[in-house]
Parts: sequence; C-alpha cells; structure tokens
Amino acid sequence: MENNTRGGDTPIKCELEANKNYAWCTCGHSGDQPFCNGSHRAAKATPSMVFSVEEDTTAYLCTCKQTKNPPYCDGSHK
Ligand code: FES
Repeated sequence: MENNTRGGDTPIKCELEANKNYAWCTCGHSGDQPFCNGSHRAAKATPSMVFSVEEDTTAYLCTCKQTKNPPYCDGSHK
C-alpha cells in the first residue's frame, strides 16, 4: 500500500508467549515496532495483522514490512 513505510531495517527479536494475540504492524508507521500502536489510522495505511503462536518461542519479527512470510523476517530487508 502506498501509505506504508519501512518500520526498520532489521528484524526485532521477540519472546512470544503461547496462545496470546499479538498485533504485528504491517504499515511501518508504529513507534512500537514490530507491533501496532494505532498509527496506521492517521497514516491511512494498512491495519495490523493479529497472530499467535502455539508454544512459547523466540522469533525475529519483520520491521521492514517487505517479508513474504509475515510477521517473520525472511531476509527481505537486505
Ligand atoms: S501502526 Fe502499523 S499496523 Fe498499526
């Protein structure tokens, strides 16, 4: 989407808890990367993507928003 932007240039390591809903920022405007802080509304950009994991896990979440495997980094920032 044209109003989206890069939220960063590298993924952020996150400790994710099982069965908890997380709102990954898809638009890049959040100041709380990699998660949504509601900034997409003012920016008229894409809304968050809610996801959860089945087991406690450490994940590298995408901030550049170019990943083909959201919310996870796939190396597209390079
Ligand atoms: S601030 Fe980016 S999706 Fe909400």
